[in-house]
Amino acid sequence: MTKLPFIKLPLPRGRRGRNLALASGAVVLLLAAISCGTISHRAVVLPDVPGAKYIGSSECEQCHQEIYRGFRTADHARLIAQGKNGLDAGCESCHGPCSLHSDSGGETKPPYSFTAGRPQPEGLSGRFPLEPARAVEKACYQCHLDVRGQFNLPNHHPVPEGRMTCILCHPPHKGIAFAGGSTQLLSQEENCVQCHPSQQGPFVFEHEALREGCTTCHSPHGSVNAKMLTERNANLCLKCHFQQSQPGGGILIGGVDHTSRLSQGACWSAGCHEAVHGSRVSPSLRF
Ligand code: HEC
Ligand code: HEC
Ligand code: HEC
Ligand code: HEC
Ligand code: HEC
Ligand code: HEC
Ligand code: HEC
Repeated sequence: MTKLPFIKLPLPRGRRGRNLALASGAVVLLLAAISCGTISHRAVVLPDVPGAKYIGSSECEQCHQEIYRGFRTADHARLIAQGKNGLDAGCESCHGPCSLHSDSGGETKPPYSFTAGRPQPEGLSGRFPLEPARAVEKACYQCHLDVRGQFNLPNHHPVPEGRMTCILCHPPHKGIAFAGGSTQLLSQEENCVQCHPSQQGPFVFEHEALREGCTTCHSPHGSVNAKMLTERNANLCLKCHFQQSQPGGGILIGGVDHTSRLSQGACWSAGCHEAVHGSRVSPSLRF
């Protein structure tokens, strides 16, 4: 392993800090997170790729001006190396050390690229063999190991199957890492309903729960529950719709007697609140 560049990362604006799994894979190791006031420091051992060195993000500007400029606003641009000889390794934290790439004027791909290699010019191919394409999520999992576990759950977005990638929901080069983050034009829901239009209104009877966001009920990466639900049964709904016990032992939900209903299945099963995202005909979201 090469010398550890220390990475300092202020927490993104107004967002709770989340636990990053400790990835101890062959290439990247995320060490302790030491919090100090509102700033959280992370030490990251960047991938060690034989023959290649880290050159720093500013070196990318000359050839990738547009991406470089936009990147200033990106969450991952906060991965700033510390120390006297520290590098701003934001770009290379995902693309790997780029000295060979830069020296070859772009002919040799960065260690972590997400397209298959271009044919090399005569004479170069021996020195710089073609790099295979790399799945986007492999680069991400180096630091976000907990997310890999979520995609291994039985019901998940088809990222492991190669049918979609992380960056459809988390743009890597610009702005907040969440598509539809607070300062962006699209809301998180709008990102979801681009692919899931039938969950989008306008409904005559909207379900106000959706104002809290799709992730109130769905785990976007994966879940043990069908349809990636955060809860598998009535608890999903009872988070917001309190049940009251009646003196005789009955159960009221929303002022309606549910005593015999709760045993019949999930709240959204046929005959009950099937139109859980909103209804065009039924105020009680039946269909
Ligand atoms: C969070 C990880 C991440 C960071 C940080 C990152 N990239 Fe990328 N980059 C990706 C992914 C993933 C792709 C593949 C995009 C695709 O398939 O559309 C990509 C694609 C690219 C491409 C080729 C496609 C294109 O849009 O032209 C270039 C060039 C590139 N990145 C340069 C950079 C530079 C320069 C920086 C820093 C200013 C940077 N990247 C920072 C993840 C990252
Ligand atoms: C001397 C110019 C030069 C420098 C410096 C440079 N690149 Fe590139 N890069 C290129 C060229 C040329 C391409 C090929 C562009 C294309 O095919 O459209 C490329 C392509 C890429 C790709 C896409 C590879 C693929 O096809 O999948 C990525 C990712 C990338 N560069 C990242 C970086 C990063 C990160 C840095 C800084 C650490 C950097 N580059 C510095 C010239 C450069
Ligand atoms: C070199 C390590 C590294 C790599 C590689 C990396 N990330 Fe990150 N990422 C981080 C760190 C550190 C944070 C800040 C985490 C925090 O604030 O708790 C972060 C933040 C994020 C966030 C925002 C989380 C939040 O709580 O605000 C998302 C989303 C994200 N990364 C997705 C990705 C995706 C998608 C990729 C691959 C394209 C990727 N990351 C690659 C280290 C990395
Ligand atoms: C279908 C959209 C979607 C896809 C695909 C997706 N994410 Fe996410 N991700 C989200 C949403 C939405 C959140 C916010 C969850 C919340 O607020 O509860 C999130 C949260 C995160 C976070 C911060 C919270 C945490 O769990 O650590 C990271 C890091 C992250 N995603 C990384 C990834 C990586 C890596 C991939 C690809 C392997 C990926 N995501 C694929 C939608 C997606
Ligand atoms: C880029 C397109 C895309 C985006 C964006 C997207 N999804 Fe998906 N979603 C898919 C695909 C593809 C599937 C798998 C469908 C299948 O296998 O038929 C899926 C499946 C699902 C399922 C399970 C459906 C079932 O029948 O089991 C749910 C729930 C879901 N997505 C919710 C969300 C939420 C919530 C968001 C926003 C955080 C979101 N999706 C963003 C493409 C997307
Ligand atoms: C109040 C909780 C709740 C919220 C909020 C919610 N969903 Fe759902 N969603 C469910 C339930 C429950 C199901 C399972 C329905 C079933 O199995 O019949 C479901 C199923 C789905 C499915 C699978 C569709 C199908 O017909 O099986 C998709 C896709 C989906 N939701 C997307 C979304 C999107 C996108 C959002 C945000 C716009 C969202 N959901 C918000 C509870 C919710
Ligand atoms: C995030 C909070 C939240 C969650 C979770 C939630 N709801 Fe709601 N729901 C509301 C709010 C707010 C209203 C509108 C106010 C009211 O009628 O109580 C509402 C209204 C309803 C109504 C219409 C009541 C009426 O007659 O006006 C039904 C039916 C309903 N929800 C069913 C469900 C079901 C089924 C689930 C679980 C899949 C669920 N809700 C989960 C917040 C939520």
